[in-house]
Amino acid sequence: MTQRFQNLLELMRQQNLDAVAINPGPTFTYLTGMRMHLMERPTVLLITGAGLAGLVLPQLELPKLAGAAIAMDAHPYADNPATWQDAFTAAFKRLGIHRGRVGVEAQRMRFLELGFLQSAASGCEFVDGSAVLEALRLRKEPRELELMQEAAYIAQKALLATLKTVRPGQTEKQIAAELVIALYRAGSDVELPFQPIVSSGENSANPHAVPGERQLREGDLLLFDWGASVDGYCSDITRTFSVGELQPELAHIGAVVRDANAAARAAARSGIPASAVDQAARGLIADAGYGEYFTHRTGHGLGMEAHEAPYIREDNGMTLEPGMVFTIEPGIYLPGRGGVRIEDDVVVGQKEAPSLTDLPREVIPYTQALD
Ligand code: CO
Ligand code: CO
Repeated sequence: MTQRFQNLLELMRQQNLDAVAINPGPTFTYLTGMRMHLMERPTVLLITGAGLAGLVLPQLELPKLAGAAIAMDAHPYADNPATWQDAFTAAFKRLGIHRGRVGVEAQRMRFLELGFLQSAASGCEFVDGSAVLEALRLRKEPRELELMQEAAYIAQKALLATLKTVRPGQTEKQIAAELVIALYRAGSDVELPFQPIVSSGENSANPHAVPGERQLREGDLLLFDWGASVDGYCSDITRTFSVGELQPELAHIGAVVRDANAAARAAARSGIPASAVDQAARGLIADAGYGEYFTHRTGHGLGMEAHEAPYIREDNGMTLEPGMVFTIEPGIYLPGRGGVRIEDDVVVGQKEAPSLTDLPREVIPYTQALD
């Protein structure tokens, strides 16, 4: 039995779950080492509190079981959907699950699978098991941290390569295209953690802007939010540059965000609540008079998903522990004018939280970032 599997069983005991039902996704891969996707045909991993595992899956996926990290009974089904319920029912019977609480991932379990599960085990109660399944992946193992460090280096290398090609007059989409190519050239997995954001001028005031046809021009802020993946582990970085000279207020918010990022990184450590990290950044921005323009949480956990626990929010009392990884990404967004965000990926240690990302954080002309 793997350590990860034992950790899951312990968490299930603590949360009074008799079983869990897990769809393909990061938790599924974390436990089994198998990469499968959510498709029109259901795949569900069932694990009981006694440590038995079963997998309902399409017949054609059976070869993937050869590399599985845990022992499990396979319950394959053929293409005719009328036969699928039988596979689910057989799996529950074989695992001896007749009643009790079965945890699912609320953000991943679909109506499709839930229907089969409920019909297979009418005596069971299906509940949100997110607390268990999020906690499982919270503290990263040394090998996971190595992969995340690699993902950070690859992303940084890709940005520097991209900046060399940036010219006024280019569109955000053109710059984003260069960045994606540079990420692949630098060694990222083909499946990026998310589509990069490249936003300029007034568009940078939208935290989740989609790269468009706007052309880069003198006086713009130029924001990049991008990441790489290595063996499925993500980085997520934001840097903001200027195109030539900035209006004084835009330069000023650049300095405030840089200081807020530094304050939150200095605050992050084991033993404090996540909310204290948020407060370190938020307090500094509020004191500078821009509180209403910092419109999102300070950060989010990072790992096999680009957004996972722990969430760095003012209402999150979760205590930070060594091995947790999360972003610190304060921003100030002035509608119609522009925004600055500076995002790093930090690892909680005993006394501090060193950053996996180390590109300079000053808002300077992108041409100078290459020096
Ligand atoms: Co980001
Ligand atoms: Co982020």
